[in-house]
Amino acid sequence: MESEVLSLLCDPDSRYEFELEGSTLRNTATGRVYPIRDGIPLFVSTLTGSNLKYQSLYDRIAPGYDLAETLYYWIKRKPNYRHEVVAELEIAPGARVLEVGVGTGANLRYLPQDIDFYGLDLSWSMLHKFRKKLKKWRRNAQLFQGEASRLPFRAEVFDCVFHVGGINFFSDPARSIREMIWVAKPGTKIVIVDETEKVVRDHYQKNPATKAYFPPGTEAVRCPIDLVPEEMQEIKAREIADGKLYCLTFRKPAAPAR
Ligand SMILES: C[S@@+](CC[C@H](N)C(=O)[O-])C[C@H]1O[C@@H](n2cnc3c(N)ncnc32)[C@H](O)[C@@H]1O
Repeated sequence: MESEVLSLLCDPDSRYEFELEGSTLRNTATGRVYPIRDGIPLFVSTLTGSNLKYQSLYDRIAPGYDLAETLYYWIKRKPNYRHEVVAELEIAPGARVLEVGVGTGANLRYLPQDIDFYGLDLSWSMLHKFRKKLKKWRRNAQLFQGEASRLPFRAEVFDCVFHVGGINFFSDPARSIREMIWVAKPGTKIVIVDETEKVVRDHYQKNPATKAYFPPGTEAVRCPIDLVPEEMQEIKAREIADGKLYCLTFRKPAAPAR
């Protein structure tokens, strides 16, 4: 692990910094150790509730995830919605960018080359798939297995923070939003996108691969605009991708001038 990456990390529970010890990260204050597997630090704790349920879903569907998306847009003869998501991001050359719930990394292909990309996800299988594609795409990314509600990063280290496609079913969406704010530099625009209720009803509850995870009576999904702390600025929500996705954006206030 490069020293720059190490310098951005902290224990997601205590916020103390790490030192590298062999193929592990060691909390310098408490001695707690987190393993690193195939270059990916592992921060997932004992999961319960919907995080456990959806980790198992994504571990299972990871092998076919990209193909399913390609086929979907090919059959529908529709352009991929990812252009619309990426258009919301503010990314300057050389920016340090974090995608929370990065999955197989499908958004990276739509981002500029000259960035430092960091991705965190709950599912090892999704990350493993992403890692293999990086070689093919000749791109770099630093990956982490962890939970959106326990980000292993220091305060105010990212120039761009975004999430696509999982927050509807995070165990703790409010805390996950606060974590995204914690790691973003002052002035950063934060972008959160997920599917609208219509997609869950018309697609996931009918698809044989996913319907067991979305039984009738699954709590209705909604844009979590009410979970954005009121001190955030420019809080906006709108539907994109023909109403299939909501896009919630807001800006962390800039640091006061000295
Ligand atoms: C629909 S996929 C989207 C992946 C990627 N963002 C994309 O646009 O293709 C949702 C991802 O969120 C991840 N995820 C779900 N709950 C999570 C959590 N609590 N913390 C971090 N990642 C989570 C899943 O493992 C999955 O890879």
